Amino acid sequence: MKTSVMVFHPNLDKSLANKALMRAAQASGDDVTVRDMYALYPDFHVDVAAEQQLTEANDRIVLQFPLYWYSSPALLKQWEDDVLTMGWAYAGTHQLEGKHLMVAVTTGGSEETYQFEGRQGVTMDQFLLPFKSMAHRVGMVYEDPFIVHSATPKTLDEQHLREVMTAYNERLKH
Ligand SMILES: Cc1cc2nc3c(=O)[nH]c(=O)nc-3n(C[C@H](O)[C@H](O)[C@H](O)COP(=O)(O)O)c2cc1C
Repeated sequence: MKTSVMVFHPNLDKSLANKALMRAAQASGDDVTVRDMYALYPDFHVDVAAEQQLTEANDRIVLQFPLYWYSSPALLKQWEDDVLTMGWAYAGTHQLEGKHLMVAVTTGGSEETYQFEGRQGVTMDQFLLPFKSMAHRVGMVYEDPFIVHSATPKTLDEQHLREVMTAYNERLKH
């Protein structure tokens, strides 16, 4: 499946998890294109025509990012607001119809904390609802998200990181 992986990390140089996932994605084969979106658009001026063209040329869009304040880094929101235009994504032509959307997100918090009764008091499903709703609205197939919890240098040991990279690499091959 022709896949566009967009990595939204404002500080990729200091990243452990997303940098590793990016490497795993890059090794997934010729069908997978990986882009560092903050490097492309440091001033937040998204090239809408280029982004729409690239999106049209792919069968699956992967939005990869670290969880920041229960949301995504700001450039991802900017990308959505600018690129998913009326008449292109919805209300007119539906250029994304039938394409797949997958969210790949890393969190500092552990899996146990992302429960109603957990420390975060919120589940990952709740947090990801805006992406699921967006996919639904534009006719995309919402894939199960790829989630890496406890993604801090203290809690993500080398072996787990390797397992996570393998799982991501495999997931992107299909
Ligand atoms: C500004 C900021 C906000 C964050 N907010 C959250 C949060 O709401 N929930 C959480 O679990 N982790 C949060 N974290 C931790 C990051 O999600 C974690 O450091 C990141 O996923 C690790 O990936 P990386 O190694 O690629 O940077 C936050 C980190 C920063 C810098």
